[in-house]
Amino acid sequence: MHYGSERPEILKHNPLKAIITPRPIGWIGTLDPGGLPNLAPYSFFNAIGSDPDMVMFSSEGAKHSAMYAREQGEFTFSLATEALKDEMNKSSAPEPSGVSEFETAGLEQGRPQIIRTPFVAASPAALECVTLDVIQLRDRHGTLLDRYMVLGEVVQTHIREEFIVNGRFDTVGARPIARMGYRDYTTVTASWELGRPSD
Ligand SMILES: Cc1cc2nc3c(=O)[nH]c(=O)nc-3n(C[C@H](O)[C@H](O)[C@H](O)COP(=O)(O)O)c2cc1C
Repeated sequence: MHYGSERPEILKHNPLKAIITPRPIGWIGTLDPGGLPNLAPYSFFNAIGSDPDMVMFSSEGAKHSAMYAREQGEFTFSLATEALKDEMNKSSAPEPSGVSEFETAGLEQGRPQIIRTPFVAASPAALECVTLDVIQLRDRHGTLLDRYMVLGEVVQTHIREEFIVNGRFDTVGARPIARMGYRDYTTVTASWELGRPSD
């Protein structure tokens, strides 16, 4: 099968998200203009550099997280794990302004040290980020799209002590969840090591 802009009918849903997988979930905390915490998951998310550590998430539409990250100049990332999957899912409900998903999902707020935005206290790891840029994406013709990519620099990292084992973050022990396509998710349950030719 090959296709360009016209997807064959047999593919009822765009399979892009089932092909580019697993995608880490950026569980993004922001503050609304009144200082109320907002929380939502974003699987168009990744780390994009280290030293200084940088992350990005991308919003399909001018959603609260991207707009607040731009207005307030900061956001947090919390690691979404299997133990927190229901809370993560609840926090994706499109709540109106004035309602905090920390409340509706029953999540305790972790206290930030450098910025003002809280993170998910129960999460094994969280990042405080300063917004570097919010880029409104364009298509190949240069037409502006209703898509917003938020870039942030990590200014503080939080790791719960029990997830530090032999000086490393215990990724498998944290059981991070990641998005596949459709309504499918996967969990990190195993790891394997591969040395580099240059080692
Ligand atoms: C696992 C998961 C991943 C999601 N990833 C994205 C994403 O990458 N981009 C996006 O625009 N919406 C994504 N959504 C939907 C948003 O979380 C949802 O629209 C939410 O209400 C946005 O909240 P906000 O307006 O407070 O930012 C995702 C939802 C779930 C459950």
